[in-house]
Amino acid sequence: MHERPAILGGKPAFRELIDIVRPGLPPLEKLRDAFSEVLENGKITNNSRFVRRFEQVISEHVDTPAAAVANGTLGLMLLLKALGRGGEVVMPSFTFPATAHAARWCGMAVRFADIDPETWNLSPEAAARACGPDTVAIMGVHVFGVPCDVDALSEVARRAGVPLLFDAAHAFGATYRGRAVGGLGQGEVFSFHATKILGVGEGGAVTTADPAWLDLVKAGRNFGLDKSGDCADAGLNAKMSELFAIIGLTVLETFTERLAQRRRVGVLLRERIGKLAGLTLQRIPESCESTHQNFAVLVDATAFGLARDELHAAMTAENVMTRKYFHPALHTMSCYRGEAAQDDLAETERVAERVLCFPIYSDMTDLEVNILVGALERIHADRGAVRARLREKR
Ligand SMILES: Cc1ncc(COP(=O)(O)O)c(C=O)c1O
Repeated sequence: MHERPAILGGKPAFRELIDIVRPGLPPLEKLRDAFSEVLENGKITNNSRFVRRFEQVISEHVDTPAAAVANGTLGLMLLLKALGRGGEVVMPSFTFPATAHAARWCGMAVRFADIDPETWNLSPEAAARACGPDTVAIMGVHVFGVPCDVDALSEVARRAGVPLLFDAAHAFGATYRGRAVGGLGQGEVFSFHATKILGVGEGGAVTTADPAWLDLVKAGRNFGLDKSGDCADAGLNAKMSELFAIIGLTVLETFTERLAQRRRVGVLLRERIGKLAGLTLQRIPESCESTHQNFAVLVDATAFGLARDELHAAMTAENVMTRKYFHPALHTMSCYRGEAAQDDLAETERVAERVLCFPIYSDMTDLEVNILVGALERIHADRGAVRARLREKR
């Protein structure tokens, strides 16, 4: 007889819980000299040498000038503020709350538009429908590291006469038609949160080829102060610390290899998990390279035999952490439910109700992949009994 899923009394696939992320932080020995230097000379912040160097390396990677910031959320706020006018920002509702919160904190209105049913990124057609006289920007999100349809969105933005921006929190290292994310929109924002592909702890960067915007972001991250000591606008304190810049520079030394490893793991998971009936993968267009920031599937309850939440419960029993990114969709959250006119968000709702993310790391071993996929296969094979057990438990 085959092994039973843990939820039916079998042995859990993993002895201990395996986390959804495993940050690839460097060992202390690699940081010690630089940490000692800043702790001894006291230059631990205020845009000192390691932040400036980090900024330079980031801009070389994406071939676009960069400003380092304390985190991605503040980067989004500073970029939106640099537009210099209020109004509506068209964006997807299938994203992390920070995308919309940044607009809200800048006093802007959020206009949610639907996503593409296959890539789960902002749909150019829906964005075009959502643009109106109050639109001041379109903000795409490269969801889970898959670049948006940049050419089509650029055309929509050009027609609407507004800038195209990207929340690139998941996409440092992704490419679109051979071009690096970071230089695709008029402004883009990375997150270097510990959970991200380039994880440093807390951090972010705004990239833009527009020198005026770059100056505004740089002033804005430092209270709005300009070189003369004047504040033309009320800025923030969004400076990155030297300690995070040191971690970032060290992580960047091996970033290319780690990204290649992660892509290999991502492809392997896609091959194995994509074979199971009722699980749909995010489409990665041929012209794009994803970062595989998250490994997400859509669970079709009828075809798979278990609903998303049932699969989540069964995987938890196997000691596999799964997460429902991004559920609930933002337009259903209390703070955005009342937002003025909403587009038809049917695809957003369909994806948000079915999506489930599994662990993925650059250093995930083939053995870990086998164990994870094995657990999923066992649950699928015993889906009828798993469902009955979960219903009994309710
Ligand atoms: C899509 C997206 N945008 C923005 C953010 C915010 O970035 P940070 O945590 O660096 O503020 C995150 C995640 O944290 C995210 O997933």
